[in-house]
Amino acid sequence: MITINELQFKEYISAQEIAELVKTLGTQITADYNDKNPLFVVTLKGSFIFAADLIRSVAIPCQVDFLSASSYAGGTESKGELTLLSALPNVRNRHIILVEDIVDTGLTLSKLVSLLQNEEPASLAVATLLFKPEVCKFTLPLTYVGKEIPPDFIVGYGLDYAEYGRNLPDIYVKC
Ligand code: IMP
Repeated sequence: MITINELQFKEYISAQEIAELVKTLGTQITADYNDKNPLFVVTLKGSFIFAADLIRSVAIPCQVDFLSASSYAGGTESKGELTLLSALPNVRNRHIILVEDIVDTGLTLSKLVSLLQNEEPASLAVATLLFKPEVCKFTLPLTYVGKEIPPDFIVGYGLDYAEYGRNLPDIYVKC
């Protein structure tokens, strides 16, 4: 059990299980994108640790870019609006793999997907470590999903509560 800003969290997904999930996704992407020179577009901040591991598990030439978006603003529930904090990467005619830490309501991703689609990529797929299908309100191109989870609030492995907990190697769930 750990405490972050007076909320209690218990261990939920071990670092070892995370590593296995990431390796499986990397193997799938390697097989699907051979000769396609994919561009990974990593959404900050939450995806930075997942992306670092995912990209190292992909064994084909690829490139990486970043974009910064925010929807939670320090709480434990999605605010229902998205703030884009950086410019969009150049995705035209590229095979894009959008890297997300977690899909909750799907609002963040649905907005990012439509912004990127407007820029006419050759293709667009999403790789997310975690997905909360019970609360997702949008139809999304979730080609690579590490694990489906219930709609609980989690921290660790890049995911934060009020900007804390990103450094935890395991993933924890709110008690
Ligand atoms: P959505 O727009 O509701 O799908 O929320 C997506 C974003 O909210 C993710 O990229 C995360 O940054 C954040 N988020 C969603 N669920 C959680 C959670 O359980 N813990 C921490 N952050 C979360």
